[in-house]
Amino acid sequence: MKTIIEPFRVKVVEPIRLTTAEEREAALAAAGYNLFLLQSRDVIIDLLTDSGTSAMSAEQWAALMRGDESYAGSPSFDRFEESVRDIFGFKHVIPTHQGRAAERILFSTLCQRGHVVPNNTHFDTTRANLEYAGAEAIDIPCVESRVLSDPHPFKGNMDVAALETIVERHGARKIPLVMITITNNSGGGQPVSMANVRAVKDVCARNGIPLYIDACRFAENAWFIREREPGYAGRSVKSIAQELFALADGCTMSAKKDGLANIGGFLCTNDDVLARQERDLLILTEGFPTYGGLAGRDLEAIAVGLQEALHEDYLAYRAASTAYLGDHVSSAGIPIVQPPGGHAIYVDAASMLPHIPRLEYPAQALAVELYREAGIRTVEIGSVMFARKDPITGSELPAPNELVRLAIPRRAYTQSHVDYVIEAMLGVYARRESIRGLRIVDQAPFLRHFTARFELC
Ligand code: F0G
Repeated sequence: MKTIIEPFRVKVVEPIRLTTAEEREAALAAAGYNLFLLQSRDVIIDLLTDSGTSAMSAEQWAALMRGDESYAGSPSFDRFEESVRDIFGFKHVIPTHQGRAAERILFSTLCQRGHVVPNNTHFDTTRANLEYAGAEAIDIPCVESRVLSDPHPFKGNMDVAALETIVERHGARKIPLVMITITNNSGGGQPVSMANVRAVKDVCARNGIPLYIDACRFAENAWFIREREPGYAGRSVKSIAQELFALADGCTMSAKKDGLANIGGFLCTNDDVLARQERDLLILTEGFPTYGGLAGRDLEAIAVGLQEALHEDYLAYRAASTAYLGDHVSSAGIPIVQPPGGHAIYVDAASMLPHIPRLEYPAQALAVELYREAGIRTVEIGSVMFARKDPITGSELPAPNELVRLAIPRRAYTQSHVDYVIEAMLGVYARRESIRGLRIVDQAPFLRHFTARFELC
């Protein structure tokens, strides 16, 4: 059979309210053209994030009922720990309420002022938590990632030569850890190859630096290794994930992505002394080490979800459905980051809307248009989110790229929803020359993208 179907059927439905063009226009005006400020009831297809938006399976809902809410020593923790250890293999498993809590605990234990931490590309909370701990976050994505249209199979890779240079320049004592983000979310949802993780591990091992994985989308990354990397065809996706984690000294994880859960995360390490310090900090701010800020039922949902995320029928459908969206819009001429990522499609708004100056935010303008056209909510990853200040003049400098991310929630939408998104994108593309830029009329001093308000230029 050629058709790859959703490998599940629907047991519970969540109605979508279909809005009119007038209602959407009013909602946009009320939100100041900032899609974070929309009410979700006014959104038809929500592609704002793939985080915490998965549909849980019947087995996950059943596991929820087994949740033991004891403060200490809950068997739900044992099941959670066993599931995590089975895939990730680390000695210590520390539950947290979500990924960024794992980051905060790891970095406040390991990092201090004067430290530098290299990563293929830091996610924004990872960077912010490192900077909060006083360390400098350095992004070293591979050179292939710079050309958005290059279909290289592992554009998430780290630039290993750049890593060597950083180690030489700063010295290993200033580098408390190296991190690799799989898949590379901020770099287009692109995978990292096993060969690249091995090469990075080699540099780390020679210099005595621990290697940590930001593991949010580990199952999608392992799938791409099997599909694209020589020597991995026919291997089980789980064994690929196990092989990858065996190269690392620890990981941070947001179970809201490839944990198929609506909340949760964890931190792992093989280091006994570090684990002790991390658990002490966990008790201070998150909770006792057998629940870490989660309910017992959340631990159960994650224990099941992590294993389901590795089911190969699910991953085949997941990759096919994201690629289906990417291939349809790109064959109509819409420029996207190639190849399509695991969890999202990223549209290159600077190429699609060349008539809009970078500081009139072409990606924000495109995101607004997609909502106006069909009630689709996406997120701008461009100069609204990442503009910098010129250190001399203080004027705003545009971000390197102007992207719109269409993130696909796991198991939540069907092919006809995706067809609807394609149709809307083609509609917007057909009238692209009439799309206007935006100017900011109100903004916060940092993380302005969440609350800024805009008006049309
Ligand atoms: N690391 C990566 C690569 C992420 O994508 C995220 C979250 C985190 C860490 C933090 O995890 O949200 O559980 O605290 N990404 C979401 C997104 C928010 O929309 O890409 P968290």
